[in-house]
Amino acid sequence: MPAVVLVGAQWGDEGKGKATDLLGSRVDYVVKFNGGNNAGHTVVIEQPGGGTEKYALHLLPSGILTPSCTPVIGNGVVVDLDVLFSEIDGLLARGVDPSKLLVSADAHVITPYNRVLDRVTERFLGARKIGTTGRGIGPTYADKMSRTGIRVQDLFDRHILEQKVEAALRFKNQILAKIYNRRSIETAAVVEELLTYAERLAPMVRDTSLVLSEALDRGETVLLEAGQATLLDVDFGTYPFVTSSNATAGGACTGSGIPPNRIDRVIAILKAYTTRVGEGPFPTELFDADGEFLRKVGAEYGTTTGRPRRCGWLDVVIGRYATRINGVTDFVITKLDVLTGLDELPICVAYDVDGVRHDQMPVNQSAFHHAKPVYETMPGWWEDISGCRTFEDLPAAAQAYVLRVEELIGARVSAIGVGPGRDAIIVRHDLLGED
Ligand code: GDP
Ligand code: IMO
Ligand code: MG
Repeated sequence: MPAVVLVGAQWGDEGKGKATDLLGSRVDYVVKFNGGNNAGHTVVIEQPGGGTEKYALHLLPSGILTPSCTPVIGNGVVVDLDVLFSEIDGLLARGVDPSKLLVSADAHVITPYNRVLDRVTERFLGARKIGTTGRGIGPTYADKMSRTGIRVQDLFDRHILEQKVEAALRFKNQILAKIYNRRSIETAAVVEELLTYAERLAPMVRDTSLVLSEALDRGETVLLEAGQATLLDVDFGTYPFVTSSNATAGGACTGSGIPPNRIDRVIAILKAYTTRVGEGPFPTELFDADGEFLRKVGAEYGTTTGRPRRCGWLDVVIGRYATRINGVTDFVITKLDVLTGLDELPICVAYDVDGVRHDQMPVNQSAFHHAKPVYETMPGWWEDISGCRTFEDLPAAAQAYVLRVEELIGARVSAIGVGPGRDAIIVRHDLLGED
């Protein structure tokens, strides 16, 4: 099996980290291809002597927890070097060896001015803010597109770095001072800060697209792991309430240098209900006791910012859209266990927009903003399912729920998460197998 892409189907936090970690021991490379430390992946690993270890990863690919696998930060990622080394040091302190990590020479660097600009822009927008993670993600991708960005490779040529930072700041200091009433930032301070990381970074830096291409030539397996998700994608998400990168399967190619014809499987992670962090439309959002139930039982608080996640019922219009945009071959439904104990489980199968039924995402964003969910309701179950390891172990109502979702989203459900731990999963089709 050559290259496999793993994406989020909804608005993030579907459990991508757990799924990547699960496959980690069977793949040779795990590549993060988009985003930066706006991502937050929680991985819970059962210990041989009992108990669990919990890891929260932001910038590092989730494959970092698997010793046999080489983690790669691809060219599509934006890298905060301070966060990179803090995360590496945090893992070293816990006995995890991150020394195999490779970083693309073409990845862009989040600079101190990009972090400042993210926060002041959000404050300036006030009620119209995006609700970003404040990590400098948007401004860094904006610099990349406007060709004023700083790349990892620039850290190894002081002269070039100085020139580029100076050119960027000439413009940004005007914005900081004249629009946001902020102090200007000194070129030398930025350059010196970035250069402090150069020596430690140097051994990790590669042409990662070449490394991955050679690995595929040798028949090795590469897992391309998305940050964020389909509806946070800058092209296909709920723009402008999105992140600034391509989090869908297409981004796996441009963010890693692996061409489309080497990818033969696309796994999408779909939470059994829906959550979103930050602002933006969310048709099935719940403001009642059921929403509170999902937040509480699902522990829906952001891994990165700690913000409570907005919660709502499963929306298969989004699921179908994710199938189409990503070319999903296999779904993993996560957090089915969280639905235990609810009398009824509504599934949003279409939207009502001003009396007109929409089975697909509406063309215009404003229609999506006031789309009313059309629900189909399935019966719930009360049995604890966290110990189930085969599909047949699940109560009949839980099986029916999964089968109905499978039918509605238009791609097979190959695995089902029934708890946060590595083992808490039901596998119906091997995600890396030939069938
Ligand atoms: P990611 O950003 O997609 O990697 O997801 P997050 O880590 O931000 O959020 C998913 C949360 O759900 C994490 O706390 C996981 O430990 C947890 N989780 C993942 N799969 C399951 C599952 O099947 N059941 C339960 N109860 N928790 C899960
Ligand atoms: P993972 O990988 C959920 C959201 C932010 C905000 C919007 C833009 O853990 O699924 P940004 O800082 O990226 O410019 O913020 O995107 N967002 C996420 N929401 N999970 C994430 O990542 C997210 N990364 C960004 O809350 O609404
Ligand atoms: Mg997350």
